[in-house]
Amino acid sequence: MKTNRWISTFCIGSICMTCGIGNLAGAVTPVEARVDSVLRLMTLTEKIGQMNQISNTEELTGQQIEYFDTKELIKGGHVGSMLNVSGAEQTRRYQEIAVNDTRLRIPLIFGMDIVHGFKTISPIPLAESCSWNLDLIEQSARVAASEATAAGLHWTFAPMVDITRDPRWGRVIEGAGEDPYLGSAIAVARVKGFQGDDLAAHNTMAACAKHFAGYGAGEGGREYNTVDISEQRLRELYLPPFAAAAEAGVATFMTSFNELMGVPATGSSFLVRDILKGEWNYDGMVVSDWSSVAEIAVHGVAEGKSGAARLAVTAGCDMDMEGHCYVSELEDLVRRGIVDESLIDDAVRRILRLKFELGLFDDPYRYCDAGREARETLSAEKRDAVRAMARESIVLLENRDGILPLSNRYKNIALIGPLADNPDDMLGSWCALGNGKNVVDIRQGIEQAVGESATIHYAKGCDIESDDRSGFPEAIRVAKSCDVAVVCLGEDRFMSGEGASRAKITLPGVQRELLQEIKETGTPIVLLLNNGRPLVLDWEKEHIGTIVECWQLGVEAGNAIADVLFGAYNPSGKLAMSFPYTEGQIPVYYNYKNTGRPYEPEMRYVSHYQDCPNEPLYSFGYGLSYTRFEYGAIELDSDTLVEGNTLRVTVPVTNTGNYDGDEVVQLYIRDVCARVTRPVKELKGFEKITLKKGETRSVVFELSLPDLEYVLADGRRVWDPGMFEVFVGGNPDEVKKAEFMLVAK
Ligand code: GLC
Repeated sequence: MKTNRWISTFCIGSICMTCGIGNLAGAVTPVEARVDSVLRLMTLTEKIGQMNQISNTEELTGQQIEYFDTKELIKGGHVGSMLNVSGAEQTRRYQEIAVNDTRLRIPLIFGMDIVHGFKTISPIPLAESCSWNLDLIEQSARVAASEATAAGLHWTFAPMVDITRDPRWGRVIEGAGEDPYLGSAIAVARVKGFQGDDLAAHNTMAACAKHFAGYGAGEGGREYNTVDISEQRLRELYLPPFAAAAEAGVATFMTSFNELMGVPATGSSFLVRDILKGEWNYDGMVVSDWSSVAEIAVHGVAEGKSGAARLAVTAGCDMDMEGHCYVSELEDLVRRGIVDESLIDDAVRRILRLKFELGLFDDPYRYCDAGREARETLSAEKRDAVRAMARESIVLLENRDGILPLSNRYKNIALIGPLADNPDDMLGSWCALGNGKNVVDIRQGIEQAVGESATIHYAKGCDIESDDRSGFPEAIRVAKSCDVAVVCLGEDRFMSGEGASRAKITLPGVQRELLQEIKETGTPIVLLLNNGRPLVLDWEKEHIGTIVECWQLGVEAGNAIADVLFGAYNPSGKLAMSFPYTEGQIPVYYNYKNTGRPYEPEMRYVSHYQDCPNEPLYSFGYGLSYTRFEYGAIELDSDTLVEGNTLRVTVPVTNTGNYDGDEVVQLYIRDVCARVTRPVKELKGFEKITLKKGETRSVVFELSLPDLEYVLADGRRVWDPGMFEVFVGGNPDEVKKAEFMLVAK
């Protein structure tokens, strides 16, 4: 077969060159030698072609700014990567052009946003983060990788690791919430899930830490908006998950759309060249976001595509996604001596290295296996994994009425609301090739769970976002006729995600009014929320005694929700992001600074609002269970931690309720006095444990110097001898406290 002949010829060629180079350059890794052997053969045009990424024009995930003949562009050696192409057959067709019809036959790399699933869609990442279950989160990414690679994909533009404290920003859906410690742990879990320990394996794929950096700090929570934060805050809040992903070996990074300190991130040498490739010594590949190279000119810091291309390649952006700047401008810039070819070589080296590491040079069709695609897609095993993930992503916000879990005494259950019989909106906005026809929605899940033991009476009640109240009477009639009303409210899947910032984040349309009318009937209510961001739920919290945050849980949403509603699983989720009382309170988060005038009741001249509390409606780390967990006193193995030693923190936790359950035991610290202000609490450890009713277990954490360090604006990690407070509990507001002194040797 032509392909086999090509591979043997090329490999022989590269191996010979490898041997030669090996003798000359000492011990070089096989990949590096093979990269060099290819780079040496390439013309400047071919090198720049590798730095160009174009989208499949049928599946755009951004605004198309240029129109082109894809196949001719590939044949001309002007394409290194494509995005939004999937399927064993379709990827094979494009790969055959690159491998058979170009001079050097360098294979393409195919990427897509496999953010939380390919076809077997798992919960949105913000929901998964509320599980605090790193093993399940890793498994969820592995399920996605297994399915996507069976469909010819090599590279996912995930995990999104942007920390954010602003629920008006629609992309909170994609991340891990507000905390850098939890965000870092989850970033690592997702990278490991996607990449496994061998990128060349047929069921693993290159991951991409995005969006580098600070994208979650857009002013006003407005999409793509200006980001202007101190370097201190950048380094202590927004960079840690990226550093953790780099440390975990993430294969690629993606630069962000936003400007940072006056410079667009995609053209920021400070961010990419100095921090990522300099301080962190990152040797992976950096891709721009969609047309973010071209947008450098729109930001107003470059003259047209040529200036944008120069700034981006100088900054260290290796590949231009759908910006068409590199492919059209770089050759001229190099020939005129404005851009040094060494920058091109560095970028192309990183791109080629990734393709070698994925095994694409050895077998460009390794991932184009239609048989495996059929076997792997939506398998029962994958659905089971996603259901387990979904169950643990659910957060019980209120259970004051004690009606959960629903017992079998409820024979007539009203199921009301625009999210009840709605498979599509369970998928979330970044659902790759997810399809509503593969979703078990809430109505299906509950009907399957109750079987003949109860009757479900459904009424939609209202739309997600309209002022049409014509469905109210039927919904009220149904509620009155039943023993309990399960009311499913929230957002549609495109109210969050990219391009979905919202200035008002109460329940859209007339959903709250519907809830108020059902409340008037006196029928007990279980409020199920399906949303992609924290919402303003002040009225709901005050008037509804049973509230369950279900997020957007993917293809197994209905089954997972039924598992929790009827007690097959005792909810264990803890919020990864705070819910505000009102939009006016944003940003509100748990790891706030003390200020010089911390809040005191009845005092005027202290840090407070006259019309709203300081604390959030629901805090980061908060979530209820059907049982209760009681924490004993913290025991420290010493009241002093000497630099270089370890301090053991032990806390007994008892399940004092009537259900077995999982609890996320959280450890926070406070650095009482430091060179810069420190938060009143910082998450520095957590462990998810399972306790049978009546069971007690001592949870042990170990603290050492790295846990107590912080970063200064100049990037130095430092620590200060002195008093530290340590807190342990099931959320940051209900904790046991102890103190210790940190001392130098
Ligand atoms: C989008 C997103 C980015 C995504 C890329 C490719 O604009 O910002 O997260 O990976 O384009 O779809």
